[in-house]
Amino acid sequence: TIYSDSEQASIAAAGEIAALIRQRAREGRPAVLGLATGSTPTRLYEELVRLHQEEGLSFQNVVTFNLDEYFPMAPDSLQSYVRFMREYLFDHIDIRPENVHIPDGTVPADQVAEFCRRYEEQIREAGGIDLQLLGIGRTGHIGFNEPGSGAASRTRLITLDHITRTDAASDFYGEENVPRRAITMGVGTILEARRIMLLAWGEGKAAVVKRMVEGDMTDSVPATYLQKHASVHVILDEAAAAEL
Ligand code: GLP
Repeated sequence: TIYSDSEQASIAAAGEIAALIRQRAREGRPAVLGLATGSTPTRLYEELVRLHQEEGLSFQNVVTFNLDEYFPMAPDSLQSYVRFMREYLFDHIDIRPENVHIPDGTVPADQVAEFCRRYEEQIREAGGIDLQLLGIGRTGHIGFNEPGSGAASRTRLITLDHITRTDAASDFYGEENVPRRAITMGVGTILEARRIMLLAWGEGKAAVVKRMVEGDMTDSVPATYLQKHASVHVILDEAAAAEL
């Protein structure tokens, strides 16, 4: 869906998530959400907070799994995705702390593989992800699945692409401070979600959006693997859709 601006698009996307949460509550079972970070979903989170505060949307029945986290990364660092999620969403809603899952950037390096295996197990134990929210990086990454990530890849430690580190430089006050690695759900993990919602705004994303939607499936643009999924909603503003 192409909206005239990201404001309208974010409100519509938040509405879809709220509808899912309410539907699951009526069915008496939890809604399992896969969540993303970055500048793209911030307005959507703000709208979810508003729906909670002004329209009684409850997150008591919501379980979340975030896509990724820098590695290494302390949860209270300015750039941590734990801190991001608290700031934009979790501190302002009634979600139960035990229902929140974010890859742990403090796990000792020799225990990361086991941590990732357990993260996948927790997703399965929760019943799988009902709706996965995604942004897209200029490299064609989803989560932090950089070029080279295969369709069957699972949650793991990955080396960040140079372009991704350049794009993150301002958050870290210089590219040299951007971590070289991250923990990310795999492409295969993402593709197991029942529904996927990918958001992209602005002219900077237009070229990669075109490759994702119209290009051949290839691990040099991991987002192209979304073409295999039965239920993906790509939500764009006009600028991000400009090359389609
Ligand atoms: C980071 C995140 C991705 C996100 C991407 C795009 O790399 N790990 O999940 O989609 O940035 O970021 P932005 O939304 O700021 O353009």
